[in-house]
This record gives sequence, structure tokens and C-alpha cells, in this order.
Amino acid sequence: MKNLVLVGFMGTGKTTVGAALAASLEMKHTDLDDAIVEWEGRSIPEIFTDQGEAYFRDVETKRLAQLLAVGSQVVTTGGGAVLRKQNVEMMLEHGIVIALHATEEELIKRLEKDTGRPLLAGGVATRVKTLMAERAGVYDFAPIQVDTTGKSLSDIVLEITRQVVERTQDGEQ
Ligand code: S3P
Repeated sequence: MKNLVLVGFMGTGKTTVGAALAASLEMKHTDLDDAIVEWEGRSIPEIFTDQGEAYFRDVETKRLAQLLAVGSQVVTTGGGAVLRKQNVEMMLEHGIVIALHATEEELIKRLEKDTGRPLLAGGVATRVKTLMAERAGVYDFAPIQVDTTGKSLSDIVLEITRQVVERTQDGEQ
């Protein structure tokens, strides 16, 4: 079984959905950000402050490659993990990629009180708007696209499962 890889902007629910999807399919769930934190022995804001985003992105690529190599896992990724072509190629080669979406308004609401995401520092609403504009289309490469706005967790898991089964039967992936 290939990995199921969840991508999407911050706040789209990748980690929550990934955990529920893994439980439902009896697969292991691994979160890329958690793996980075474990590897580095410090939080993501600390990594950004100490060594900057470029360093974080290098670690992100290395850890992603390791997680995908394990196989048969639900792998949830950080919102910026798709920014490197190399990462996208790895995801497509070693997994079925699922992109989660939500409206800008919904994302701002979900992220409003967040303090753990360095890229949102300086005003969540403004940063979400800017980053969403900068990242327009970066999740389009995923063969499965799911809008999470207004949907329950169980509906989202069902929708993903249905599409994964369809694609697996078609022999597309
Ligand atoms: C980032 C998203 C974060 C985390 C880091 C950078 C991004 O993950 O990887 O703060 O560039 O969008 P989540 O999408 O899980 O918040």
C-alpha cells in the first residue's frame, strides 16, 4: 500500500484529518512537523528563530524523504512542504496525495489565536491573505482535492477514503 500524503495550507486540518483517516484505515499516522521537532529537539518557532526558514526547509525535505521511505503510512505535512519541486516529486512517487482546502475566512477563524506558526507572526489575517495569494495553485498537483469548509471530520474521512479506493481500483496510482 502506498502512503497517503496530506497537503494543504496551514489550518486546513491536515493533522486532525490524517489521524482520523489513519485510525479508520488502520494505518500508521506520522506528522512531518512532529518528526522535524523530534529530530531537532526544539520547536518549529525555535528552529525558525535560531536558524531561519531555509534551514527548516532543508530539514523538512530530509525528514519527508525518510518518512515516505517507510511506506504504508498516512503522512501529514506542513503547509509549505509543497514549495520545493523535489518534495512534490517525492510525494507523487511514493504516495497518493490528498490536498485539503478551506476558505480564507474559515482559515483565519481557525488560526486566529495561533502562536506556534512563525509564518503567521505579525497578524494572522494579513499573513494568511498574503501567503494564500503567494501560494495560489501550489496544492493543485494533488490528484485528490477536498474542500473541508463546513464538513464534519467523519464526512471528510469518508470522502477521502472513497476517492482513494476509486483511484486504487482504477490503477491510476
Ligand atoms: C508552514 C506550516 C506549518 C509548519 C511551519 C511552516 C508553512 O505546518 O510546517 O510553520 O510554511 O505553511 P502546518 O501547515 O501544519 O501549520
